[in-house]
Amino acid sequence: MGKLYGLIGCPVGHSMSPDIHNDAFSHLHLSAYYHAFHVEKEKLADAVSSLRTLGVLGFNVTVPHKVAIMPLLDEIDESASRIGAVNTVKNKDGKLIGYNTDGIGYLTSLKRRIKKPLSESKVLLIGAGGAARGIYFTLAKEGCLQIDICNRTIEKAKDLISECPIKVKGDAYSIHGAENLIYDYDIIIQTTSIGMHPNTSEKPIELTGAKKECLVSDIIYNPIQTQLLKEAEAEGMQTLTGVGMFVHQAAHAFIIWTGIEPNVARMEKIVINKLG
Ligand code: ATR
Repeated sequence: MGKLYGLIGCPVGHSMSPDIHNDAFSHLHLSAYYHAFHVEKEKLADAVSSLRTLGVLGFNVTVPHKVAIMPLLDEIDESASRIGAVNTVKNKDGKLIGYNTDGIGYLTSLKRRIKKPLSESKVLLIGAGGAARGIYFTLAKEGCLQIDICNRTIEKAKDLISECPIKVKGDAYSIHGAENLIYDYDIIIQTTSIGMHPNTSEKPIELTGAKKECLVSDIIYNPIQTQLLKEAEAEGMQTLTGVGMFVHQAAHAFIIWTGIEPNVARMEKIVINKLG
């Protein structure tokens, strides 16, 4: 009998996770199936208990359940507990273990593109929400030279920095404050929802004055080329789209569940074919 995997979230209708995981299963001749389950906030505990009872071997967790699921699990791995959110669960002999592959997924996609080591790189993170948190904590652990955060609500950026157990050089700024320092950054990472479909003409920050060698990265993948990335490219800067983070978080989850490394290039192609 085939093994069952899945995703819980709300909404999940447009998720591309079933496309890439099911393709990886069939490409690797694994008898398994991945299904997206729509789970409302107040039904989370019921859903987790059902997945456990039915013996689902692993599932992803997305908005709005990434934090709320934590007390419902039997064990939380170290990086998920540091980040304070779970996006991947493995059912190990009936025990549900929570992981976070968002931060490591982002780091993997970033590392493939940078020319200068992170230990020599000054980073600007735009946004201070859940996604920024996973990326900040992961980059801090990786030993970045400096990480500044800018956010509409500066207090949230300050809180994020002070809550990170690993101390790294850097400060919290308003968006305008970061624009004044834009010439200094080697990597700019955009983690807010600004520019996401359908508001594709919006951008969170002005890049004027940034270094030509700067890598500008957006974690949004719909559209693949956000307004921010279009402007960065027009200025001759390097860009990294959100497709990289999406497929690498999925690949890390796939490895946690099966122990097998999926073909990430295939995953990338599926997303680009559908959205590009
Ligand atoms: P996620 O988990 O996807 O990161 P989130 O936790 O709701 O989502 O965080 C959203 C981020 O986008 C925050 O940094 C938010 O800024 P505030 O902390 O000031 O709310 C930012 N954001 C969302 N919409 C924005 C907008 N219209 N202008 C500026 N920042 C925005």
